[in-house]
Amino acid sequence: MTAPNTAAQRALAAAEARFIANNPLSQKQHTLAAGSLPGGNTRSLLHTSPFPLTVNRGQGTHLWDEDGHRYLDLAGDLSAGLLGHTPHPAVRAALLTALDAVGLNLGATTVQEERHAALLCARFRLERVRMANSGTEANLHALAGARAFTGRRRVVVFAGGYHGGVLSFPGVGEVRGNTVDVAEFVVVPRYNDLEGAKAVVQRAAAGGDLAAVLIEAVQGAGGVIPGMEGFLRGVREAARAVGAVFVLDEVMTSRLAPNGLGVELGLEPDLVTLGKYLGGGLTFGAFGGRADIMAVYDPRLAGSLAHSGTFNNNTLAMHTGYAALSEVYTPEVSAVFNAKGDALREQLVVVARGTRLSFTGRGSLIGLHFTEDGTEQIQSGEHIKGKERGDLRDLFWFEMLEAGFWITRRGFIALMLGTPDEELDGFIQAVSKFLDRHSDLMTV
Ligand SMILES: Cc1ncc(COP(=O)(O)O)c(C=O)c1O
Repeated sequence: MTAPNTAAQRALAAAEARFIANNPLSQKQHTLAAGSLPGGNTRSLLHTSPFPLTVNRGQGTHLWDEDGHRYLDLAGDLSAGLLGHTPHPAVRAALLTALDAVGLNLGATTVQEERHAALLCARFRLERVRMANSGTEANLHALAGARAFTGRRRVVVFAGGYHGGVLSFPGVGEVRGNTVDVAEFVVVPRYNDLEGAKAVVQRAAAGGDLAAVLIEAVQGAGGVIPGMEGFLRGVREAARAVGAVFVLDEVMTSRLAPNGLGVELGLEPDLVTLGKYLGGGLTFGAFGGRADIMAVYDPRLAGSLAHSGTFNNNTLAMHTGYAALSEVYTPEVSAVFNAKGDALREQLVVVARGTRLSFTGRGSLIGLHFTEDGTEQIQSGEHIKGKERGDLRDLFWFEMLEAGFWITRRGFIALMLGTPDEELDGFIQAVSKFLDRHSDLMTV
């Protein structure tokens, strides 16, 4: 952060005061929640100071909070809400079938898990797949598989990488306190720096203990920063050269292309991890890829790895996920939808040119950044380190909420299917008005 800018702080204090005045019921609910949940929270990202807004319902692509405000949902539950808040008729029918005709907690192998698995394999070009309950679990099990396959332990990851609640690498030397097996991760300091990545992979492999390289093809939580094709392919080659398993985390990015971003970019990962919308709105995760690696999980083989999980094949997600992927988010829909996201981002870039606001992303995922010099083409968190303007980002967040647009405070947009074009135009106008209203603070 740069030195406090008093005009920015005044604008921010005024916006926060309006937020408090406009949301008494959310504030009251927060106080109540803090009586049973630490800080009133059970999903850290959702905490915002002075208090989070409490949402009481969603419909289509809109949300309503306790105080009765209506928002266009541009956060899309951090990409998991791709299908919208009102279940598509196909997903609704699948859910009702699972409830009425199949039942819950069968505690047994079912036909539907095979159908969903076969669909995931065909769509994302996986030879074998296994289900889990979240993206975090998918990554944990993928890494366990890579370790068992190679007989090695260490894993190379990238600064700014996020692979789940217990696998978070915000920056170099900044491993989150709850990250598991911290000593076994080696962090590449800069995303999109191929030479740096190669050097780290080679160094990490030198001791003969490098099991895997784990990477996102677009860093999602790290700012929606796309990996350059040459970089991603180069990292894959570096991993291959030392016999490490190349794991592509597609928990966020599988939505970005008809068969996932890895296929689109020709990355040929050894393993892929999946999650979010692929449960059709229910909790879900999956990991899969090369049959020889996934065979470490084949229970027919002596010495295989256990992959337990009471809800891995729960009947609800197996049915809703299958319906979502086969009937709603088809490859054709994915292509059109992501083109719409690209068009939106390009319009936002034009509106923000010459200001401290810039946009990154690919397709239906967009990141927004406020920097002192308005850096465009951001390639990594390191690239803008020390230049970020958290005060302006917070001001933007408060004022977008006031204007009826729900985005995450850190500046993440994940479009939802069916978002009306005119409402996206309204968002572009709101951004433009914000930049005009605060031109003294925003102009570079
Ligand atoms: C790239 C990536 N991997 C893994 C995860 C973890 O998924 P989940 O929240 O379902 O555990 C996330 C969640 O945001 C993610 O963005």
